[in-house]
Order: sequence, then C-alpha cells, then structure tokens
Amino acid sequence: MKLTKILAASVALTISATSLAKAEPQAEVLHWWTSGGEAKSVAVLQKEFNARGGTWTDMPVAGGGGDAARTALRARVLSGNAPTAVQIKGLVIQEWYEEGALADISDVANEHNWGDVLPAEVARHMKCDDIWCAAPVNIHRVDWIWANAKVLAENGISMPTTWDEFNAAAKKLQAAGVIPLAHGGQAWQEATMFEAVALGVGGPEFYQKALVELDPAALTSNTMVKVFDQMRTLRGFVDDNFSGRDWNLATAMVINGEAGFQIMGDWAKGEFLAANKRPGIDFLCASVPGEGFIYNVDSFAMFKVDGRDKQEGQKLLAELIVGPSFQKAFNLNKGSIPARVDVPLDDFDQCAHLSAEDMAASAKVEALVPSYAHGMAIRSVQSGAITDVVTAHFNSDMSSADAVQMLAKAVANSL
Ligand code: GAL
Repeated sequence: MKLTKILAASVALTISATSLAKAEPQAEVLHWWTSGGEAKSVAVLQKEFNARGGTWTDMPVAGGGGDAARTALRARVLSGNAPTAVQIKGLVIQEWYEEGALADISDVANEHNWGDVLPAEVARHMKCDDIWCAAPVNIHRVDWIWANAKVLAENGISMPTTWDEFNAAAKKLQAAGVIPLAHGGQAWQEATMFEAVALGVGGPEFYQKALVELDPAALTSNTMVKVFDQMRTLRGFVDDNFSGRDWNLATAMVINGEAGFQIMGDWAKGEFLAANKRPGIDFLCASVPGEGFIYNVDSFAMFKVDGRDKQEGQKLLAELIVGPSFQKAFNLNKGSIPARVDVPLDDFDQCAHLSAEDMAASAKVEALVPSYAHGMAIRSVQSGAITDVVTAHFNSDMSSADAVQMLAKAVANSL
C-alpha cells in the first residue's frame, strides 16, 4: 500500500473511532414559539442544550397555536427528513406515533423517574401504548381573562366574576372609547375563546360532554345555544381590525391600554412579562367566570432519525426538558406552571399560584378538563370540524340556533 493510502486509512480509522466514542449531541428543533415571551422561553432550552455540549439548529415556524408548524412538519416527514425534536402535543402525539414516526424515549424517562414527578393527567399524554413518546414542558391554563389594570381603574371597573359583569364592564369601556376586548381573528384564537366561554357558561360537566365526549345532546343543548349567544356578545366588543391579527398583537393592545381585556391562555402572561409589566399592578389575571380549569400541556416528541449525534441530542433534550432547572426557568418566562410536581413555586407570581391552586382544586372535583382548541381533548379531524363552525359563527351573523345544528352535523360527519 502506498504511504498516502496508509495515512488516509489511518486518518479514517481515527475519525470513526472518535465519532464512535463521542457523538456530539445535535438537534434540529421545530417549534412555533416566535412571539416575545415564547422566544425568550425556548431560548432557555437552547442555552441549557448548548451548555451541555449540544449543537442546536433552530427551526421556528411562526404562527400562534401551531397550525403552520404542523403543516411544515408533515412536509418534512413526507420528504423523509424529519426534524430531530418537534413541539407537538396531545392527540397529535398519538397520531404521529400511530404513523410509526416517533422515537421511544423510555430509557431517559425511566432513568429520571418521570412516572414519579409528573401528574398522572400529564403523564398519560406523554405515553403511547406503554412507552414514553413525548416530554412535557409545562401546564398552560386556557380559561383566563387578562386586563390592563390602569384602564380598569380609570373606568371604575373591577375584574368581572360573572358573565353579566364582564358584559357590563365591556359596555362601559366601549362608552369610554376604549376597545373592550382585544381579539385576533384567527380560527384557533376563536376556538380558544369559545372553549373558555363553553366552560364558563356551561361548567365542567357540560364541557366534558360536549367538547371531549362529543355528545350530540350536549352539542345541541340550550346550554350550547347560550355559549354561542355569549360568543355573539363578545363579537360586539372587538374592534373593526381584528381579522387575521396575531394573538400577541392583541395582547399588546391590552399592554398599551388600547384595549381593556383579552380572553386567552396564559402564554399571554409571557407577553406582559416580556414587556416588563407586573402582575397585580400593571395587568390583572382572573379565570373566566364559572367553575373548572382547561389545561393545555406543551411537549416535545423525538422523531425517528438516523445518526448517533442526533439520537444523543434527543436523549439530552428529553433529559433537560423534564429537568427541574429548565422547568422552572422556562415556565417563569412562558406564563405557564411547571409540569413537574416538585418544582417550588416560590419565585412564581400570583397568576401562576392561582393556576396551581385552581388546578389542584379542580382535579379533586372532576373539573379539570383538556383543551379541545389546543389538541388535548379530541383528534385533529374532530377539533377542526368544531373550530370551522365556531369561526363561521363568529365571523357572520349566524344565529346560535343555527350554529348548534351546524356543530352537531359537522361533528357527526367527522367521526
Ligand atoms: C399554544 C401553545 C402555547 C402558545 C400558544 C400561542 O398552542 O400551547 O404554548 O405558544 O399556542 O402560540
């Protein structure tokens, strides 16, 4: 053998020996966290990953609620080039698992006792058959009202505790020339508001029957008529430019006092905090009038990929995501509370405390319900069918009576 060939062979051997010994963790991470508060939150994970020797390739797909991200993901998987780690949640995790696309992360989960540190309600969404197939980052609450404290005080309004109070407060703001309700006219935001109204007006048992069990009687009930009535009332409180507006721009309207209220999940709190606003002083939080708690758990699933570097990246990410330091730092920015039960909430604000207390209390009386609008309750086909009706009603003069009939039909056709 010529000397150059021998040298080349030995170099190749050395390289492969080194790469066998030490695969550098790599991760291409697909997510939709691009607003101010969201970007700050996901940066915590990137920082921890890099600090442990990982190389992070960011793949943000803008669009609140993740519709655009889910479309981008499908295109990537269909072209045989799945990202390493993907922000998916709820039933979508199960859908990808059934397609054979997800990696088993049980080794990491078992080594770090996820079964002991996660509430059963959260853990059940992270398991596919009997393996762990996703890692949870948080627990978001959906059924919140956010308000600008100064705007409310100036107009002699306190945080509403009934829908009548909310409607009266909104009318008062309208008369004073303030936009009562900041809303972004995108289907997922209308779905988010609708489920909060459904829980508030109908209560947890009704919510469970209608939006989780898809019971035809509940879908066409008088209670559902009342839910659509309240949606129609809310439609009267939004400004003329609401169509297509991003949710964080709606939050910004409350932040800067252009609007009084927003009905949105507590990712909105992440925006207030990123703008250096203080809870209880600059902005107020309260659950929507009524009983119960709608949860929405964000998580990452690892897709089946080749290459030891990527597989090491997946293990490291899974470990960090459920690790106590990430769970704390991430959720302080994100507006949610940790998924782990053993992270002290001492440094968290009053809204986070209210969330944790209400969640525990609701769990005891079967009033803790999964978010349909954020994929935790039902499959995409069914939730899509409901959202189509909700958004068609909100953006037309459809009557509540027609809406419930359309709702029941759309759900029946989707089953
Ligand atoms: C939700 C997600 C939240 C937040 C929100 C707006 O679906 O669970 O974490 O990002 O969308 O983008």
